[in-house]
Amino acid sequence: MKTNQPIGIFDSGIGGLTVTKAVAEQLPNESIIYFGDTAHLPYGDKSAQTVQGYTKKIADFLLARNVKLILIACNAASAAAYKLLKDYIGDRAVLLNVIDPVVDFLSANCSDKRVGLIGTKLTVQSQVYQQKISALARQIDFHALATPLLVPIIEEGFFEHKLIEIALAEYLAHPTLQNIEALVLGCTHYPVIKKSIANFYKNKIDIIDAAKIVANKVEATLISHRIRSSTTTPKHRFYVSDYTEGFAKGTRLFFGEEIKVELVHIF
Ligand code: DGL
Repeated sequence: MKTNQPIGIFDSGIGGLTVTKAVAEQLPNESIIYFGDTAHLPYGDKSAQTVQGYTKKIADFLLARNVKLILIACNAASAAAYKLLKDYIGDRAVLLNVIDPVVDFLSANCSDKRVGLIGTKLTVQSQVYQQKISALARQIDFHALATPLLVPIIEEGFFEHKLIEIALAEYLAHPTLQNIEALVLGCTHYPVIKKSIANFYKNKIDIIDAAKIVANKVEATLISHRIRSSTTTPKHRFYVSDYTEGFAKGTRLFFGEEIKVELVHIF
């Protein structure tokens, strides 16, 4: 693998842009190819097998564009397809997900705490966080709640809106999340509603947003594989499987700057 090959990042839609922004800020010399599978959003309501099928096609698309590393910037796809993709991709590219770096963070910072997580149905039902935390033998009192209405509301652009406040008030008051000391945003769409979540808790608990934690992991991985880019002219490209107004409008808010989005048919 060569250092100046791009990094591939994908999500079911716009959410992965929160992670992409953190990666682009932390690694300004890296070129990024982003794929948002807007034709199949949301992943979180689908079966693991269905999501696995989509992710293989996306991996083929990114590998054909010569990426050196693929980051699954989606918790639902990380939960459903990381193991399968690891075998499928083999040594053609390095593969990272958004769950392992957060589990490592929890294990280093949240021992003996009561920690909550909100995420899609697929992520929560997979129990992947609990399994990985148990594998590290850490005493974390962990409680996850599926909050499936949040992604559609966010994708529709209602994230600084009373609709999101109403949904959050309902979900966050659920008994599962009572008395938590920290909350993991277990979906890459949620950083854009972090302020509303913090307001609900009156800023009294830690809100754990994966974006920065994952960007650190990407940097450490590039360094350990000696594939960090040295180019001074990185180029980013953003692809979607279905062109939607929501995606086009949302990119600016999620990525922080104007993005040219290209439609590509890979399914
Ligand atoms: N952004 C995805 C995640 O992190 C979820 C969106 C979806 O359900 O497609 O889980």
